[in-house]
Amino acid sequence: MIVVRTVADLRAALRERRGGSIGLVPTMGALHEGHATLLRAARDTDETVVMTIFVNPAQFDEQSDLAAYPRTEDADLALAEAEGVDVVFAPETSEVYPDGFATTVSVGGAIAETLEGAERGRAHFDGVATVVTKLMLAALPDHAYFGAKDAQQVAVIRRFVADLGIPVTLVVCPTSRDADGLARSSRNTRLSPEERARALAIPHALQEVTDAAAAGIADTEALHARALATLEASGIRPEYVAFVDPLTFAPVSVVDGPVLVAIAARVGSTRLIDNTVLGGA
Ligand code: PAF
Repeated sequence: MIVVRTVADLRAALRERRGGSIGLVPTMGALHEGHATLLRAARDTDETVVMTIFVNPAQFDEQSDLAAYPRTEDADLALAEAEGVDVVFAPETSEVYPDGFATTVSVGGAIAETLEGAERGRAHFDGVATVVTKLMLAALPDHAYFGAKDAQQVAVIRRFVADLGIPVTLVVCPTSRDADGLARSSRNTRLSPEERARALAIPHALQEVTDAAAAGIADTEALHARALATLEASGIRPEYVAFVDPLTFAPVSVVDGPVLVAIAARVGSTRLIDNTVLGGA
């Protein structure tokens, strides 16, 4: 495994590997088992696996959040090596955003402006879209791997990849969960044991909605009420429980095709997101 810090070195490292397929796994480090499942999917598919580690300042709405974001490069490199990564691209901020940088990739409409876009501010998905575009242009991968937990991020990336004609296939890996069902996230370590137990209401609410939809309840208002009741029974008042089209993020009132159910909630001071898709996608 080699570690490179510049786009020039990344391109040089990939030059002689272009005969086979290249898989890109973008990360902000602080790797956990969820990232490992993305790396394994890439390892199973691609001849060369490139992982990036870059804590992208442009996608943080609060400076304090950026400063507090865990930097664990030694452990991340050890995990990458154990998962068979070939090349790690871990640039400095100045390599990604050199002096004079003045370009933003910005996806319009409900995909980027609602739910996470509304809660975290317009700049969040602009920051994600801009950095992922830059990482794709730097590595020119055949496949890029993302987790289904960040469903709105995936929809944003799908949109600009199509709109800009970037020749990459997105691979969306199922949400990685602990044995009890909690979606894996680097934020889970911030939960106290009592909060972690209460946080299980989130996957339980998603299961409740899945079961109710399977039993024939198609009205999303009725499904919303069930999810809310499950969350509130554990003392969780969500920021949102949304029923939307998985591609456009337009709200959906009746489940008669694929519907993304997305939940965001603070448990204590830790903000968690999770989702599932109803109606077979
Ligand atoms: O999902 C993440 O970790 C980040 O948003 C990504 C895709 C690496 C872009 O910074």
